[in-house]
Amino acid sequence: MLLKRDGNKVIITPASGGVHGKLFVPGDKSISHRSIMIGALSEGETKISGFLKSADCISTINCFKALGVDIDENDGVISVSGLGPQGLKKPGHPLDVGNSGTTMRLLSGILAAQDFECEITGDASIMKRPMKRVMEPLSAMGADIASLGGDGLAPLKIKGSILHGTGWVSKVASAQVKSCVLLAGLCSGVPVSVTEPALSRDHTERMLRAFGVGVDTVIRPDKSATVSIGAGCTLKSPGNIAVPGDISSAAYFLAAGAMIPGSSVTVENTGINPTRDGIIKVLEMIGADPVFENAKEDSEPSADIVVTHPGIERIREHYQNEIVIGAPLIPTLIDELPVIAAMACVMPGRTIIKDARELRVKESDRIEAMTAELSKMGARIQGTPDGFIIDGVEKLHGAAVDSHSDHRVAMSLATAALCAEGETVIDGADCVDISYPAFFEDLQKLI
Ligand code: S3P
Repeated sequence: MLLKRDGNKVIITPASGGVHGKLFVPGDKSISHRSIMIGALSEGETKISGFLKSADCISTINCFKALGVDIDENDGVISVSGLGPQGLKKPGHPLDVGNSGTTMRLLSGILAAQDFECEITGDASIMKRPMKRVMEPLSAMGADIASLGGDGLAPLKIKGSILHGTGWVSKVASAQVKSCVLLAGLCSGVPVSVTEPALSRDHTERMLRAFGVGVDTVIRPDKSATVSIGAGCTLKSPGNIAVPGDISSAAYFLAAGAMIPGSSVTVENTGINPTRDGIIKVLEMIGADPVFENAKEDSEPSADIVVTHPGIERIREHYQNEIVIGAPLIPTLIDELPVIAAMACVMPGRTIIKDARELRVKESDRIEAMTAELSKMGARIQGTPDGFIIDGVEKLHGAAVDSHSDHRVAMSLATAALCAEGETVIDGADCVDISYPAFFEDLQKLI
């Protein structure tokens, strides 16, 4: 494969013979955010190894530094000195979350329960993303939170106060909403529960348990889930947190392994939390059966994941009927759907992705972005209100495509480019810095 950079453009010309290699991807983004936030709210010092140093997680660090938290780095290990659940200090300026929805939504819950007023702002994309989903439960808890952008849009102005408990029922399975409410309850010392249509990623619950908080999770036969914490919980740092590699970042390489005949890829020390492993299920559905090696079970499970292209005949057998990816799998692979869409474009049959309306309110409208860009590469892809209908073609062709300033769109298009004929030029490629600054360097290792 030939990969060239030209300013904010990346030019990819694939080689024949597939992708091969073994690599580590950087730390999990969701866990990295939470390690700073929960570390800051606890008693004691937390040392975080494997922390993801990407633009989004650096936004979280900067917000917590502005809130008076000491955060240092030594030999790649980040140390956070906890100030307790109500020990944050009024910042001297509005807090800037950049592009990070996780920072804005989780921080809202924390700030709603402090004893000062402040504003949270961010970049052009975050100003378009729905914040009502956190404003509503926080208001139900008695919070004073206002949308300065109007109609539930950021910037948000939050005047901290003592909140009361809630039993919130969320229409969407969203870990950001769930975590916002849990953190608001923790900081105010009141009992809260959140019910969602399916269990969203449970990193907050796992980390809270590691900090000594009792978290109760009930999953019903219809897959709806309720997560609760009691009153007056205290957070005690476990000392160390090891962040595993991000399965959402691994997904590009795993998908490449399953798309390109002759490939074999291993992504080492990757998180395989069951609330995040939908990409593994999809690879199994198409017959590419990933193998786990060196599995470990800390508060977050991890393993080396090996994907070997199973041969087109085996994939064809699995595509005898169309493949449907829908609820309740969707929350376990929501961030991987752009690359799953790219992979489906070269599968021998029809793939239907449904129940994924949430894709329209991510860093970009990912249904619109992936449909527009993959079509330029010769894909037979149709966007629907809540997903895609994709009929595989034998080959994609290189094209000039655009990232829509969305890191996951850029990396998914790069993955599609690996099995396209000719050259693909991805404009706006620098946005990979949001979650995976070394993505293109790592991609080049897979030769
Ligand atoms: C995240 C939750 C998901 C995911 C996002 C990270 C988190 O969003 O898409 O990239 O760290 O809690 P929602 O909570 O909106 O589903």
